[in-house]
Amino acid sequence: VITASTQNVARPGMIELAFGEPDPALFPAADIAEACHAVLADGGGEALPYGANAGPAALRRLLGERLTTLERHAVSADETLITGGNSQALDQILTLFCEPGDVVLVELPTYSLALGILRDHPVHVEAVAFDALGLDVDALLRKLDEVRHGGRTVRALYTIPTYHNPTGVCLAGARRRALVELCAERGVLVLEDDVYRELWLDKPSPPSLWSLAPRGVVLRLGSFAKTLAPGLRVGWVNGSTEQIERVAACGLNDSGGCVSQFAASVVARYLQDGHYDAQVERLRAAYRERRDALLAALAEHLPDGCSFTIPGGGFFVWVTLPGSAPGQEVLPLAEERGVSFVPAVRSHLDGYDRGLRLCFTMYESGQLAEGARRLGEAVRAAIAQS
Ligand SMILES: Cc1ncc(COP(=O)(O)O)c(C=O)c1O
Repeated sequence: VITASTQNVARPGMIELAFGEPDPALFPAADIAEACHAVLADGGGEALPYGANAGPAALRRLLGERLTTLERHAVSADETLITGGNSQALDQILTLFCEPGDVVLVELPTYSLALGILRDHPVHVEAVAFDALGLDVDALLRKLDEVRHGGRTVRALYTIPTYHNPTGVCLAGARRRALVELCAERGVLVLEDDVYRELWLDKPSPPSLWSLAPRGVVLRLGSFAKTLAPGLRVGWVNGSTEQIERVAACGLNDSGGCVSQFAASVVARYLQDGHYDAQVERLRAAYRERRDALLAALAEHLPDGCSFTIPGGGFFVWVTLPGSAPGQEVLPLAEERGVSFVPAVRSHLDGYDRGLRLCFTMYESGQLAEGARRLGEAVRAAIAQS
């Protein structure tokens, strides 16, 4: 149940396809309650004191084992640090690994709220082109040359290669390899936001950039926000042991210990109890049905001149609008009709607005279909008034 004290509150009568959240009805609340009880039963043991800087040993080990099996690529506990989720981790990594004035590259469009985190840091955020196969690695090479010729340093690239937010696109296999090779050669730190990896809907996710790169090139940011519950605020970073030690030793962790010690201990217990695979499978089944319902309804209701992505996982479908109906003009018309979305302009840096993001996880199929019908009407109205 979304209540007035949560981050996003649904307006009466509005199908809120702008919210990029998991469905609260699918949170495994009873199993989490059981895990909470178990970690408190012995007086709080490891869960209530300040935690080890890099997080509970049990969770680091369990995650290492899980990721090793998932990706058929060895990940050790020493290469894993527990965070307060991807947002916190991105903020902390930018603090620790970037210098004022550095250039940080992003693909565009990108996760709009990551742009907010980047804006909190004294770095220059610049764009790399993105297409139906994901980040354009040739464009990345050109951008790296351009910045170098200008005498500046590209410190990092923030990218979401697997079920991208906002488009749902998955970076093509050949591009994954080319991207890590290029970044390794040029000394660019890749910040791989991998929050949707487990939520593939058709076939298992492609290898992470982390698993393809030499150690030290990629920091992979993972989270339990989408597969368990975002309110837990538990995620992790994979990096080289040196990078992990650097984060663990930073002032924040040195002062407060692991930033999510209690919740991370609960997650460790939940994983030990063996519930996680069934939870992820339940989410995949529900979200697959919802994605298919939304795609079918978009095909039926969107007018000519619109197109949309077919995501193989994650939370989002991206609609490309005709030039005569920019996202910001469609939005009020859509909200009048009872449906909302994120206009492209929020995911870009340059005012580009020929698109919109729809999230398919929060509503059942019938409401998604109704949302698509209302959206189709709004786009037609925008075209008619242009
Ligand atoms: C790509 C991406 N990164 C990060 C986040 C936020 O992750 P967390 O809840 O772990 O901070 C989201 C949530 O929408 C997301 O889509």
